[in-house]
Amino acid sequence: MIRLRLNKNKANEHDIHECAVSQIKFHNKVDYSRFYNRLRNPFVKAKELKLVARLKVFLKKNYEILEVGCGEGSNLYYLNNCHPDANFTGVDFSKEKISFMGRILSQMKGVVADATMLPFAAQTYDFTLMRDLLHHVNWARADVLREAVRVTKIGGHVVIIESQPDSILNKLFMLFFPEERGMKDSTIEKLRKLCSGYSYRIETCEKLYLVRACSFFLGWPKGIGRFLLYPVYGVVALVEDIIGKIRPSCRTNVIIIIDVQ
Ligand SMILES: C[S@@+](CC[C@H](N)C(=O)[O-])C[C@H]1O[C@@H](n2cnc3c(N)ncnc32)[C@H](O)[C@@H]1O
Repeated sequence: MIRLRLNKNKANEHDIHECAVSQIKFHNKVDYSRFYNRLRNPFVKAKELKLVARLKVFLKKNYEILEVGCGEGSNLYYLNNCHPDANFTGVDFSKEKISFMGRILSQMKGVVADATMLPFAAQTYDFTLMRDLLHHVNWARADVLREAVRVTKIGGHVVIIESQPDSILNKLFMLFFPEERGMKDSTIEKLRKLCSGYSYRIETCEKLYLVRACSFFLGWPKGIGRFLLYPVYGVVALVEDIIGKIRPSCRTNVIIIIDVQ
């Protein structure tokens, strides 16, 4: 049974508890479609490879690497491909996701735990990743970040990837999925405030999410279906590319790199 640390000083503790419970329900099940899209759909895979190219500059041989809120483990899978000699640990509060990761990616260590109370000693990891986690722990962002920094070695990095509330697709996503509405608090200004006690920098991660949104609805079927979808994805990827060039300032998510000191 997972325990969540709630902030006792908050008057709206009941609301916080409701949010936490709805997040646990929302994330409980394994998201097969998301995992296999990232690994098998060539259009999504291309995006994942670009992302991992940005992360791998922080990794070295034999590093201890942690992802908090690792889900099914696709990020660890890609990082492991770049650094097979590193050690990988994924934490998530969904027992089902962690056991799926254990079956599919047996080289990873999976731990069921809450991001606000990581069961690791201080300075255990060289690199700690949190991708699309903060907006799901809105009531405890500072605690989650503090924990990530605590378990990361001095000289190491904590990397946060967070979706942006001003992106049109994310706005739609928030409309249909109340559990995603924590994104509203992931504006650049608020993320800067959250990280203000640390040495950090913020960069744009992905400009647009059209291909990813398409994969959310269409997936990547087995057999002949994928050949039929290929041109559809191709057109969407082209449109995404063109919009990105016409509007260079648009961004769907950001990457924050914290140097742990
Ligand atoms: C949007 S998913 C992202 C998963 C993964 N980082 C990825 O990029 O595929 C958010 C993940 O965070 C996990 N999560 C949410 N709140 C958490 C918490 N308080 N402690 C641990 N994991 C949490 C969810 O179970 C889910 O797997």
